[in-house]
Amino acid sequence: MAFGWIDEQAEQRRRAGLVRTLRPRPADSPLLDLASNDYLGLAHHPAVAEGAAVAARTWGGGSTGSRLVTGTTELHTELERELADFCGFEAALVFSSGYAANLAAVTALAPHGSLIVSDAGNHASLIDGCRLARGGTQVVPHSDPEAVRKALQTHEGTALVVSDTVFSVDGDAAPLAEYAAACRERGAGLLVDDAHGLGVLGDGGRGAPYAAGLAGAADVVVTATLSKSLGSQGGAVLGPARVIDHLVNAARTFIFDTGLAPAAAGAALAALRLLRREPERAARARAVAAELHARLTAAGHEAVRPDAAVVSVRAPSPEGAVQWAADCRTAGLAVGCFRPPSVPDGISRLRLTARADLSEAQIERAVRVIGETRP
Ligand SMILES: Cc1ncc(COP(=O)(O)O)c(C=O)c1O
Repeated sequence: MAFGWIDEQAEQRRRAGLVRTLRPRPADSPLLDLASNDYLGLAHHPAVAEGAAVAARTWGGGSTGSRLVTGTTELHTELERELADFCGFEAALVFSSGYAANLAAVTALAPHGSLIVSDAGNHASLIDGCRLARGGTQVVPHSDPEAVRKALQTHEGTALVVSDTVFSVDGDAAPLAEYAAACRERGAGLLVDDAHGLGVLGDGGRGAPYAAGLAGAADVVVTATLSKSLGSQGGAVLGPARVIDHLVNAARTFIFDTGLAPAAAGAALAALRLLRREPERAARARAVAAELHARLTAAGHEAVRPDAAVVSVRAPSPEGAVQWAADCRTAGLAVGCFRPPSVPDGISRLRLTARADLSEAQIERAVRVIGETRP
């Protein structure tokens, strides 16, 4: 029977305790949110919502076409200019998602015959970019600049090193300066995904590449999402103007995709302007992460020291992690839960978001609930 194999897979997932389900969120959810990626608490900020509303009223519900036809409004180019300027890059290009931005950047910058060196902890969208690219991929151990160096030495010609700046699961930062040094020894390009760094790391949230002194470098390209710190939706690639021009002409997820919705562009632009006016939001997100980590480890939990705004707490098993997250939810706290196959190392975790707008009382409550529900 057509699709019969799906039932078999579903049964395997059920037996392994790995079934995923959707939980529609009401507008007035009473849960304390430590599960979203709204690092700066901007998704509901009145200025961000107003940015979306004004853009939708001005430009309409959709962008009406692909970027090269009718899908580029003046709002898109304004957002690109301000994003590039804020992060310290020559140019930027906005995409309909961070996922599309990663597919675009990897495929367009790794032509036939090239080598991609990819950190083993990279996000699925970078991994899929490697799979789609014409170049060959070598996966290297997580956060290991020496392994990157060795991989680059195996190849003559065009090469691209690809890494998250902050890894989504454990919230640890990549050794960006060392990766850049390894690239420069071999004339390779460095492509980093700053989805979890933008808005949190670097001066006023200018991102991890800015913090590492790599912003604006001729051999560095950055991808980002507008859906986390900027509280909106969409993605971006930042880098030298010639790289951005190349993407406009060669990146399939740019050329064959409808442009970002105006409301999303308007919300992201409003959030970016807020971040410029209120740079302390980035430092507050980092401080909340440090405090969550300190309190959790003091209470006997095994948590990874956070480099940005993600705090990862080890769970005893995939089933234990799911139960723990469910019990937190029953007690009024929303937390993320990572388990195989999302975590290739097989270690399940709770994933907490250290939002800049969390109060001391909310941090205390979160730590108390996590302790009381521990399996
Ligand atoms: C590291 C990383 N890169 C890319 C993405 C994809 O971005 P988007 O949700 O905008 O597609 C995500 C998560 O969503 C992510 O965590």
